[in-house]
Amino acid sequence: MSTYTLGTSEPLTFHHELSFFSCSEEKLDRWLCNQALKDHDLGRSKTFVVCDPADEGVVAYFTLSLEVIETKQSIPQSVRHMLPKGYPKSAAVPAILLGKLALDQTIQGKGLGMELLGEARFKAKEAADIVGGLFLLVDPAKGKEGFYEEAGFERVPDTNRMYQSLIDA
Ligand SMILES: CC(C)(COP(=O)(O)OP(=O)(O)OC[C@H]1O[C@@H](n2cnc3c(N)ncnc32)[C@H](O)[C@@H]1OP(=O)(O)O)[C@@H](O)C(=O)NCCC(=O)NCCS
Repeated sequence: MSTYTLGTSEPLTFHHELSFFSCSEEKLDRWLCNQALKDHDLGRSKTFVVCDPADEGVVAYFTLSLEVIETKQSIPQSVRHMLPKGYPKSAAVPAILLGKLALDQTIQGKGLGMELLGEARFKAKEAADIVGGLFLLVDPAKGKEGFYEEAGFERVPDTNRMYQSLIDA
């Protein structure tokens, strides 16, 4: 285990230095540099970054947005057990989507990904406590399902989407 620990996350602003961030998934690097702040300012999603205390460069980020699942019936059977008893059949189910999560490759594989996911979950729970929200959702990239499973997300047969309850968080 490394002695390096992640600092606290903060909302992305134009002051943040993003150009050196590299997580080994070029699409996620490009999205951070070119799209994250636009979507953040438009209110489509909110991106939080963690900076290296030594040089202030961004070393990690995650992105959250609101997702409304049409009805209880649209939730896969295998994860309906996470809904509170008596949840109305035809009511919409509010949830929070963890759309992006990435660490700079220089600090991967040291347990910090799990720390970052914990921070994302904490923020999602804070939002859900204010506006309502029953699930944290993720659509993992190929090969990353195990990481989310390790963190307690549940897989759903025949889909890529994974679910974690925000109620008892
Ligand atoms: C995914 C990512 C955030 C994980 O961070 P990390 O620092 O490498 O992971 P950690 O060291 O915190 O791993 C925590 C645990 O998850 C496990 N794990 C990590 N990646 C895994 C994977 N792809 N499959 C299965 N388990 C995985 C680790 O073995 C570790 O388990 P342990 O505690 O039992 O040893 C990081 O690799 C990353 O930024 N990758 C590039 C961007 C990306 O692919 N993001 C995800 C998009 S869905």
